[in-house]
Amino acid sequence: MFESFSPAEPDSILELMGLYRDDPRSAKVDLGVGVYKDEQGRTPIMSAVRRAQARLLVEQTTKTYLGSAGDTVFNSRMIELLFGHETDGARLCSCQTPGGSGALRTLIELLASSRSGATVWIPDPSWPNHAAVVAAARANLRTYPYVDPATNELRFEEMIEALKAANPGDVVLLHGCCHNPTGVDLDLSQWTLLTELLAGRELFPLVDMAYQGFGDGLEEDAAGLRKLAAIVPELGVAASCSKNFGVYRDRVGVAALLGRNAEETEKAFGQLLGKVRTMYSMPPDHGAAVVRIVLEDPSLRGDWTDELEEMRRRIVNLRSGFAAALRHQTNTDRYDFIAHQRGMFSRIGATREQVDRLRSDYAVYIGRDGRINMAGLPEHRLDELSIAFASVLDRS
Ligand code: LMR
Repeated sequence: MFESFSPAEPDSILELMGLYRDDPRSAKVDLGVGVYKDEQGRTPIMSAVRRAQARLLVEQTTKTYLGSAGDTVFNSRMIELLFGHETDGARLCSCQTPGGSGALRTLIELLASSRSGATVWIPDPSWPNHAAVVAAARANLRTYPYVDPATNELRFEEMIEALKAANPGDVVLLHGCCHNPTGVDLDLSQWTLLTELLAGRELFPLVDMAYQGFGDGLEEDAAGLRKLAAIVPELGVAASCSKNFGVYRDRVGVAALLGRNAEETEKAFGQLLGKVRTMYSMPPDHGAAVVRIVLEDPSLRGDWTDELEEMRRRIVNLRSGFAAALRHQTNTDRYDFIAHQRGMFSRIGATREQVDRLRSDYAVYIGRDGRINMAGLPEHRLDELSIAFASVLDRS
């Protein structure tokens, strides 16, 4: 049977992780995969997570099944983190998932099964796995313009025009904050206009919230989602705890649904759990239990928010430091956009050849599309790195 398979196209982000791991050069710099790093290039276990984990080991008395929705207390705390306290709880439900990607896949499976010919609109550009997940769920894929690669500017009018062509019931995938890969987010007035369009045309917003806390703060980063939730009748959220709790390999996420009323929400939730049962039956517990302990305990929660805020500030400082170093090296303001964008990523505007040259000549690893993980920049090497970037990007 296997002889019929053709070789798989490698995932560009995961492939880069392997190339970096195998590179023997000690000065190598990983600006590829989206993980937070400290000044030493380490991805630390957050202090509150470490303490919650120790407590879990002592307090846990059983490992029996929890069911397809996972840990219900975790689910409620995540709803609060995402929606605050404004949204009617009876219209909301949530299901713990294996990471944010697990949430995306189960939600898109659910939405694709709700009608034949379901269509999901994703931004251009977007996280490369979005298109793959839509295809895996056998939904139709459309894209809407988002950022102009030449100028790094948001294409808001074009985005709105494109979405006017969407049909009622189409799903519109939105990055809740810290757009991946561009770092370009909507401001609140743009969220308002978008919300009106989505509600008016009966489009279904599916919000991917993978970086809450890394843009302008935990509450601020949820403002767009909360604006939507106040107006649209139905929406979905795929949220990840990988980055804001640093529990990447534990696979912790949540799929949330907002329905028109409690009865419809419950029916959709039942269907969602049915999808889960056939795909992976139940989510892994450990990481979500740790997150639940952090969110339930005021002292751990305080530590966690402080550490997350420190991480966020570090990225903001790295952004302005790197933009300043590039300004100095190139004697232009071409890269000033880096300082104004938000979250882990920006696209530097490198061609595939320039990306390869950065890797071969300078051991600097960036995404195939020119995406840089700002959190991977060592502050003490910003000048040296800006020389590498300027020399490669200035050559055609
Ligand atoms: C990324 O965009 O680098 C992260 O979300 C990791 C991944 O799974 O692609």
